[in-house]
Amino acid sequence: MNILAFESSCDETAAAVVQRENERFSVLSNVVASQIDIHKLYGGVVPEIAGRAHIEAVSRITYEALEAAKITLSDVDLIAVTAQPGLIGALLVAVNFAKSLAVANGIPFVAVDHIKGHIAASYLLAQTPKPPFLGLAASGGHTALYRVSTFTDYAVIGTTRDDAIGESFDKIGRLLGIPYPAGAGFDALAEEGFIQATGDKENFYRLYKKSAAYKDSEMRLPSPALKDGSFDFSFSGLKTAAINYLHRKEEKKEEIDRALFAARYTYEAVEAVAMQADAALSANPGTALAVAGGVAANSHLRRRLAEIANKHGVTLYVPEIRYCGDNAAMIAAQGYYEYAAGNRADAALNASAIDSIN
Ligand code: KG4
Ligand code: ZN
Repeated sequence: MNILAFESSCDETAAAVVQRENERFSVLSNVVASQIDIHKLYGGVVPEIAGRAHIEAVSRITYEALEAAKITLSDVDLIAVTAQPGLIGALLVAVNFAKSLAVANGIPFVAVDHIKGHIAASYLLAQTPKPPFLGLAASGGHTALYRVSTFTDYAVIGTTRDDAIGESFDKIGRLLGIPYPAGAGFDALAEEGFIQATGDKENFYRLYKKSAAYKDSEMRLPSPALKDGSFDFSFSGLKTAAINYLHRKEEKKEEIDRALFAARYTYEAVEAVAMQADAALSANPGTALAVAGGVAANSHLRRRLAEIANKHGVTLYVPEIRYCGDNAAMIAAQGYYEYAAGNRADAALNASAIDSIN
């Protein structure tokens, strides 16, 4: 079956065609129109501008996706669209577009939760996770652990009580002069810092804790992993401590070592996620872990989670980098399972800013 999927929850307008055959997915096309260049001017996403840019792009990228997949609308068996969570004015664009297309052409359609979509990026791998497994979403809006009991049934087992990890990289990155979105630049700058701190180009992350840079108490930052027996996070303390450090240095007119600081910040953020993933795997022995979301592209996090999964003797599923950030191929994969579970949307479908998983 051919699935045409749409995604417009934040700052990427995306359309993709994914084929499901012989119990496997093949991505026939995956078009992502990024609005980064527009939002860069403001240092973050401006919701009103995002909505308008989605409207401008959605029809064009649909033609592109169908053309690249070498199919026409009459070959489409299912339409899938992200309906929540996200920016409401942004979500509504793809929801209304997909709905009109489906209703006008008599094509079945399904609503997809954005986070379930992110986790579904691992269903596009050669080896895919099969429920039950643990899902870890690390993105601009989410930092959460889920028990995935079927392809459509999710329960939150840990989440952030304030900021998300990606959002925190973007905010602190901005103060370090890294253009929006700061994630990838932060990742590279931190690597420079780890190497500078340890003098080792390979085992820098593992050796970092023993380095003089890590012992520098002026740069000390709090861990975002809560130690109350929950699997929860709080990134606001880490963010505030980082802002205070940068302000203090500025007031004293002292130079900041950006790379060393990015390394320290990354270390605390990554270790917190690793610690909670480790605890969740201990509480759910023998369960595989699937990581997803824009921050799943982080090289340090990927490396660290591989170690944790290895320690527990379970498989770690990590999407290809191109399917970590927002895209519609992942929405198509989840859309297939929503359809298989008998879920259907109709003309009454609406978008919602809030999470559907709790
Ligand atoms: O999943 P996503 O594309 O959008 C949301 O659903 O939020 O995630 C975007 C986030 C941004 O905060 C971006 O800075 C972050 O993912 N990101 C990264 C990396 N690449 C993207 N964060 C850390 N390291 C990266 N390599
Ligand atoms: Zn996302």
